Amino acid sequence: MDSIVAGGGLKASRPSVERIRADFPLLSRNIEGKPLVYLDNAATSQKPRAVIDAVSRYYSFENANVHRAIHRLGEEATSAYERARERIRSFLNAGSSTEIVFTRGTTESINLVASTWGRSKLGSGDVILISGMEHHSDIVPWQLLRAERGVVLKYIPVEEDGSIDLARMEESWDARTRLVCVTQTSNVLGTINDVAAIAGIAHGRGAALLVDGAQSTPHMPVDLRQLDCDFFAFSAHKVYGPMGIGVLYGREEILETMPPWMGGGDMIRSVGLQESTWNDLPWKFEAGTPNVEGAIGLAAALDYVESLGFERIEALESALTTKALDALGSVEGLHLHGRAGRRGPVFSFTLDGIHAHDLAQFLDREGIAVRAGHHCAQPLMRALGVPATVRASFAFYNTVREIELLVRAIEGARRFYT
Ligand code: ALA
Repeated sequence: MDSIVAGGGLKASRPSVERIRADFPLLSRNIEGKPLVYLDNAATSQKPRAVIDAVSRYYSFENANVHRAIHRLGEEATSAYERARERIRSFLNAGSSTEIVFTRGTTESINLVASTWGRSKLGSGDVILISGMEHHSDIVPWQLLRAERGVVLKYIPVEEDGSIDLARMEESWDARTRLVCVTQTSNVLGTINDVAAIAGIAHGRGAALLVDGAQSTPHMPVDLRQLDCDFFAFSAHKVYGPMGIGVLYGREEILETMPPWMGGGDMIRSVGLQESTWNDLPWKFEAGTPNVEGAIGLAAALDYVESLGFERIEALESALTTKALDALGSVEGLHLHGRAGRRGPVFSFTLDGIHAHDLAQFLDREGIAVRAGHHCAQPLMRALGVPATVRASFAFYNTVREIELLVRAIEGARRFYT
């Protein structure tokens, strides 16, 4: 068997990292004559053959528009699309597939909430409490709402070690706080936030909770019944699926009360000359022809992840985290940003005397792909007091050898520039 997923889902016991890597065609590329070391997984993950094949199979044998056609192909495409929705429901342990809305990604999911729930439920003076480590996609939609509706944005400070102190969060509370927005895992610091505890505080005080799951879903099991949030957003491409598709989970009773966002085909029940009525959940929020191949690719990605198993993923990634913390800690002049106790395999750092972009360029010449810049988190970067960092972000298919190559290349850059 060449792949850990054979015939769509046989479970293999503890495949080696080498065998896992063989499932990802892109990982065997060379850059500048050197084997690629791909450490930009927080930006996007590479895709296993099972996902590439699922998308190719769809276009080769099943392609048709969904929810419209009476013909066989249309029925098959519709049923594959709706099976994918159910697959995502079970991945998240959501109560019902009516709570799973397909979007273009995390950013669109949060914009959908701001534009529907936000516009219809929040007014001037209502407070949105946002964690200080949010990605721009969980800040700017609320700023647009602020400009339109006069809502007030308050921020939960980030502690020295990159964590959120729940007592400080409660201190930031306002009698008019209506929504809390927090990422489950920071894309810069790697911090894993205690979403269930935050949900307890928010609900105890009558506020709703929106969780950005873009960086957590690739690394840990998400159980929405246990987390108890009201909205949860994630992107397929971070969790080994295709780009251009993502998910908004919304609690059913809340989605029911939200007006639609985009208008068009499929989201209506009937259309008159002046007014229309809306389709049932979740289609009320899915105007136009959807990204069917994306949904099918995402379902294949989740099959892949679950056939590997989160127990195995967490064991592989926690070994990489321990090694990376140790190896990066040994580099003279390197400052790691984010040292929270619960963390994912994301490491942002600066190196004395070398700009982050120069370091990233130097690493690229060694075949090492990292991200450098503000990581779409400018308020957090300002709080950290740095204009930019280099970020190395890992997936289960990375190796200890790659960490050694990274550290050797950083040492090389230090010698070159200083
Ligand atoms: N959100 C992605 C990142 O952090 C693009 O790199």
